[in-house]
Amino acid sequence: MSVSASAPGKLVLLGEHAVVYGYPCIVSAIEARVRVSVRVLGEDQVTLRVPGLPEPFMMNVEGVLRASRFPPAVRFVAFAVRRFWEHVGETFGVEVATGGQALVSYGRGEERGLSQDAFGVSYGLGSSSAVTVATLQALAEVTRQEMDLGGIFRLGHEVVLAAQEGLSSGFDVAAATYGGTLYYVTGGKVIEPLAVGELPLVVGYTGVKADTTEYIKRVARRRQKFPLLVETILESIAALVDEAKEALGREDFARVGRLMNLNQGWLQALGVSTEELDSLIHAARLAGAYGAKLSGAGGGDCMIALVDEARRSEVERAIEESGLPGARVVRIRTGAEGVRIEG
Ligand code: MEV
Repeated sequence: MSVSASAPGKLVLLGEHAVVYGYPCIVSAIEARVRVSVRVLGEDQVTLRVPGLPEPFMMNVEGVLRASRFPPAVRFVAFAVRRFWEHVGETFGVEVATGGQALVSYGRGEERGLSQDAFGVSYGLGSSSAVTVATLQALAEVTRQEMDLGGIFRLGHEVVLAAQEGLSSGFDVAAATYGGTLYYVTGGKVIEPLAVGELPLVVGYTGVKADTTEYIKRVARRRQKFPLLVETILESIAALVDEAKEALGREDFARVGRLMNLNQGWLQALGVSTEELDSLIHAARLAGAYGAKLSGAGGGDCMIALVDEARRSEVERAIEESGLPGARVVRIRTGAEGVRIEG
């Protein structure tokens, strides 16, 4: 019997990096889902089929238990299978197939809505945590193991920590598990759903793929060199996240936008913004966005702009016409449902 589960990606609105050090962030699950199908096998074999690999990755159970590393394309799935075995106290052969829902994006000179890009391969929108959470949920279902969302979140976060050298706050795992828009504190100390509707966001991809772990390490180095200054920055980010939470509750998007601009200033001070991110952010602000900032670890990937719907087209056009060769607008919807079994 094969069982499928899906989980959403995420966009962090405010508070990235600070959330690694015990502070809050605000994250929203996005309507771009990873789907995972799982089948228990009779033999002691693990077969992983992922879009990035032309041939399935195959290894016996013993090998998966002992491996210290896996190819990047299967890393999160392999760690999820292994962590699940540990959790249930037994191993079994399994076939896992993953796939991503396509996202609509468009760049310069392209007709709007034409290009469909595989979610997660390039944008840094949380496909690793989504694939982890969906794999765990499908494994729990196929083996009839009772696991509530708290259990899925906890195991999922351990998987991401194992796959990312211990560097993860877990907010992306929380978004994939619970969905919606969340106020989140490191390690899941607080996971509070926020009663906000869909957020009027424009997402711009810089065309540059970023390395999350590298940028987390970069902030860690800066924090070691300038402990007092960096702590002050992280505390300021935490304060603006708390203010934004209030403002979001009132749908005061103009204020949230200003807080996003402040957050971007601190992210620049932490050394994680880039020329490409800055140029798209600048273009979005000039086109009338309430505010704009990078979203995620920095170093590339995506920026976000909060907009009045009446200004959406201008902001999107400003990103498309920014002159950055790889820049594209990525269509997303926030507040997506968390992990679920698919029929
Ligand atoms: C990466 O998307 C966001 C960071 O805050 C890392 C994390 O919270 O795990 C940089």
